[in-house]
Amino acid sequence: MLYREIATRLTRQIEAGLYLPGERLPGVRRLSRQFGVSVSTIMQAQRLLENQTLIEARPRSGYYICRRSWDKPELPAPSTPEQQPMPVTGQALTLHLARIVNQADFVQLGAAVPHTDFLPLRALQRSLGKVVRHYDHQAANYAFPPGLPQLQQQLARRLLLGGSRVQAEEILITNGGHESLMLALRTVAKAGDVIAIESPTFYGLLQVIESLGMRALEIPTDPQRGISLSALALALEQWPVKACVLIPNFHNPLGCLLDDADKHGLVQLARRHGFTLIEDDIYGELGFSGERPRTLHSFDQDGQVIYCSSASKTVAQGLRVGWMVLPQQYRAQAEYHKYLTNLGAPTLSQLALADYLAHGGHERYLRQVQSHYFSQVERFSRAVRKHFPASTRVSQPAGGFVLWVELEPMIDTLTLTHRMLQHRVSIAPGRLFSANQKYHNCLRLNCAQPWSEIIEHALIQLGREIAT
Ligand SMILES: Cc1ncc(COP(=O)(O)O)c(C=O)c1O
Repeated sequence: MLYREIATRLTRQIEAGLYLPGERLPGVRRLSRQFGVSVSTIMQAQRLLENQTLIEARPRSGYYICRRSWDKPELPAPSTPEQQPMPVTGQALTLHLARIVNQADFVQLGAAVPHTDFLPLRALQRSLGKVVRHYDHQAANYAFPPGLPQLQQQLARRLLLGGSRVQAEEILITNGGHESLMLALRTVAKAGDVIAIESPTFYGLLQVIESLGMRALEIPTDPQRGISLSALALALEQWPVKACVLIPNFHNPLGCLLDDADKHGLVQLARRHGFTLIEDDIYGELGFSGERPRTLHSFDQDGQVIYCSSASKTVAQGLRVGWMVLPQQYRAQAEYHKYLTNLGAPTLSQLALADYLAHGGHERYLRQVQSHYFSQVERFSRAVRKHFPASTRVSQPAGGFVLWVELEPMIDTLTLTHRMLQHRVSIAPGRLFSANQKYHNCLRLNCAQPWSEIIEHALIQLGREIAT
């Protein structure tokens, strides 16, 4: 039957990535011209694809490609860290891995840095061009804390999408997410204090805790539901926790999303026990469902949450621009620390980012990149299951662009990392994601690298090294 043949051809086009999840399928008239068949044949084919849940109808708008769900891999086990505060050790390797990001002849599966193909570089170039052409008194000057008003205003608008209502002047612009976390911790805690964190967690956070001489208390975390509130509550009975730093939206490295009930519960816990929540929302705009999840900050009524984010994952890491929102009582102190550290964030980057957010089509870019990252992560996950030993467990992220992989306990991914560096492939060994080097048999993969034979070959090689 003709409509079945058309449906098969459309399916192939969707599978080949011609139309991405979330995108609109062309209208019936265009498809009828394209395939040289009648409008009613196209409509029959569309109904068939709708029954197969490949496309979905939206009232008065047409058909859209469905956002696919996971072909479920086996998940890593929920973590069970020793629940005792400890100093952070073993992070020196990260500088070596960071430097590799600047080496073009390496396959970059280590650092969570998006390939420039995934960044909105053209629009950003236009904004940078404008800023340079109109180079004036403001562009040539310092931008002392809290930062440039035009950027603060754009960021206040974006924060509203996550449910956070803030005045533009309350936003402190920083030199990236890393500095936001550093300022947040310096403001609410001092050397020796206990800082609760998810386990595993982003190693940059562990380095900040290390550099400030604080102690990390790792809390059990589920690869899909996020931090265990009951485990945190128990830990709070035992230890004098000063702050808890979390990545509630599309966690690095697990990719999980904390639900609203847990976000609300966390804020209540913080109020009851008198500690500060520091939210790292750097991946908050990169959800696969297309929905912007609420920030933890949006649940805060009493000044319990410090919000931190950055342009590094969604615009460009080289801009070195981040931002934070602090409760009133901490604002002046954080601004002064920021001033003491480096006087202010880079003026040109702030101006360009403000222009890009106002005119660069950021929403459109986000819709596309969310679909791209879903396809990338799914593809990497399939390749891991194909080329790694059968016992391998893999995370199922709800957003972001990294995968967390758990191997058999006898495998040491630090040794594996060194072996892979000889093949000019970088990976991030699991030990880096814990204060006392747990997760020796895990690794994180950066999936924001355009899929190619080189990438597939690197994953095949990695699978072979694991098996030997
Ligand atoms: C969760 C998380 N927070 C913060 C950062 C630091 O970002 P920035 O480049 O803005 O300092 C990163 C970078 O990898 C990250 O993954």
